[in-house]
Amino acid sequence: MKLWAGRFHKELDKTTDDFNSSISFDSRMVKEDIQGSIAHATMLGESGVLAQEEAAKICQGLKDILADLESGKLSIDETAEDVHTFVEGELTARLGDTGKRLHTARSRNDQVAVDLRLYLKKECAELLKLLNGLTETMCRKALEYKGAVMPGYTHMQRAQPVTFGHHLMAYAEMFLRDAGRLQDAVKRMDYCPLGSCALAGTTYPLKRERTAELLGFAGPTQNSLDAVSDRDFCLELSSAIAICMVHLSRLSEEIILWCSWEFKFIELDDAYSTGSSIMPQKKNPDIAELVRGKTGRAVGDMVTLYTMMKGLPLAYDKDMQEDKEAIFDAVDTLSMCLKTVTPMIATMKVLTKNMRAAAAKGFINATDCADYLVGKGVPFRTAYKITGEIVAYCIEHNLTLETLPIETYKKFSENFDEGIYDAISLERCVNGRKVLGGPAPENVEAQAKRVLALLGVKE
Ligand code: ARG
Repeated sequence: MKLWAGRFHKELDKTTDDFNSSISFDSRMVKEDIQGSIAHATMLGESGVLAQEEAAKICQGLKDILADLESGKLSIDETAEDVHTFVEGELTARLGDTGKRLHTARSRNDQVAVDLRLYLKKECAELLKLLNGLTETMCRKALEYKGAVMPGYTHMQRAQPVTFGHHLMAYAEMFLRDAGRLQDAVKRMDYCPLGSCALAGTTYPLKRERTAELLGFAGPTQNSLDAVSDRDFCLELSSAIAICMVHLSRLSEEIILWCSWEFKFIELDDAYSTGSSIMPQKKNPDIAELVRGKTGRAVGDMVTLYTMMKGLPLAYDKDMQEDKEAIFDAVDTLSMCLKTVTPMIATMKVLTKNMRAAAAKGFINATDCADYLVGKGVPFRTAYKITGEIVAYCIEHNLTLETLPIETYKKFSENFDEGIYDAISLERCVNGRKVLGGPAPENVEAQAKRVLALLGVKE
């Protein structure tokens, strides 16, 4: 029987019943639903809305239900309309009229809002742990490869030399910002809507601060209409997740490129690669490709939530039941991706020789050649033009800046001497870039140590 059966003359049509039901996806919040109910009943007892003994019985009944669910003695009734109906129905089956008192001064509208906030707060803590684990892995690899010269790219063209450590620390910075966004989302999620009831609060003398405190929230929400119709916390979290997935996708894309024979900068461990059913030579970066592909889902979940909320009049509307599958999928997707990407990075083999060789081709040190002339008093624009002419000459004669004879250099500018070869050595180009944020190995080391300290982990 439905909670609202009194007003109706007929049962709900079967297909419509399935359509309306949310138990198949909201049952994952059963623990939070019970926690919320225990806090509500405790507060009702303390405020004198319920007799203390009845409140205590309700709390015990709810604890027993949770224990029975955890031990497998009780399972979720898939025919219940939603998780709230299931828990209340089970409590009433066990306690009779006492169970029926739990829903005093409450509505499923504030109940679902509190369940979702509790559940997502818990999930955010888990995501944060996983994300920080990845950032830590990036820092450790960066320390290991702080001096490994590799080509830095713009427009996918070799641009200037960097180090692999520097490149990895770029991702560590992105993941730090992602962690900040997750923490920020939690900050605003951290208010308890219970006591807002359906939309207009209640005439019962509730101690809303107490319910909030019992559930570990920073405090109660301030407006009952807002409290039951607000899903900003889902929008914020899904946005933070989508951004983080975009970062993982960019990293995945680079991993896929680096694994190719054209690059061969890294080799993934066998545990994180797959083969082909027909081509025996293949070792494919499927995991990275899947992460890149799943970014579409996470962005889709975010769009689902924004589109669902857009245009909803206050207060609660059933459209909002659609929030759960989208936000759960976003959370699950990021969690799975972090769990596979972190060990994949930790175990990858870095082929530093290939990186160094790739950096030695393609005139990646041309800027340093121009800077050398600037050091001799030539204005940068002139130095840039001279270097451009030298590069064109080298390409024409199949030479590099390293192999161009000094006599030829001198034809382009009187200012060249033997010192040019040292100035354009890749190690010097990298080591000299000591500016804050630059790729010099000492910078990379300091940066990685700074981030490790921020994460509160030992080097
Ligand atoms: N299953 C519903 C949801 O997820 C719970 C709230 C139902 N409230 C209502 N007035 N029908 O949003």
